Amino acid sequence: MQKKKINIAVDGFSSCGKSTIAKGLAKELGYTYIDSGAMYRAMALYAIQHGLINDSEIDETALQKHISEIKISFKNNSNGGQDTYLNGENVENEIRTLKVANGASRISTLGFVRKALVHQQQEMGKEKGVVMDGRDIGTVVFPDAEMKLFLTSSPEIRAQRRYQEMILKGEGALYEDVLANVIERDQRDSTRAESPLLKADDAIELDNSETGIEEQLNWALQMFNKITS
Ligand code: DC
Repeated sequence: MQKKKINIAVDGFSSCGKSTIAKGLAKELGYTYIDSGAMYRAMALYAIQHGLINDSEIDETALQKHISEIKISFKNNSNGGQDTYLNGENVENEIRTLKVANGASRISTLGFVRKALVHQQQEMGKEKGVVMDGRDIGTVVFPDAEMKLFLTSSPEIRAQRRYQEMILKGEGALYEDVLANVIERDQRDSTRAESPLLKADDAIELDNSETGIEEQLNWALQMFNKITS
């Protein structure tokens, strides 16, 4: 008999391995992986491209006016992964820069942005069979998700991982800058008034500072089997 489909929420701070575990689970289970952070990043890229955000301000009125024109979607790519599209254009590489990450962190504090994206995310999870990672998935997007994980690891380890990723991609970066960025975003993500990063009461916390990917994934699969048996 086929197991009933559930939704899986994976939350946590930036660069703590959420996407690795969420993608791994989706692959093993034949579920759809959704990177909710990519949606905030694509929204920030739109704002940057249209001059609606600078170092000190966001033109909230203009962004709100145009929000219904901002279409964000995902498509499978030839490497077995997924690319993010903004109004039909593949923006997967552009949204991974530090500039866009900072813009996303600022834009994600706006209530009307969150409302629009949460609505789209909830639509994506209607049929179940979704693994979504982010900051508010277990608390706001899918409060009824049958399985919720909350990942943590130290800022230094997370900065090291992000730094390594950037170097591998050939993006120049200084470790100190990446660490400062991680700490700044942690602070903003967890203290903002709108849906701050919070562990849902029924989420299972996993500190992966010392745990390998395979070990985490096996552990999460065991948990999935328990929940769905
Ligand atoms: O996970 P990420 O680094 O790609 O997320 C980019 C930014 O978007 C991050 O600073 C916090 C925000 N975000 C959010 O507020 N809620 C989510 N569900 C996902 C991301």
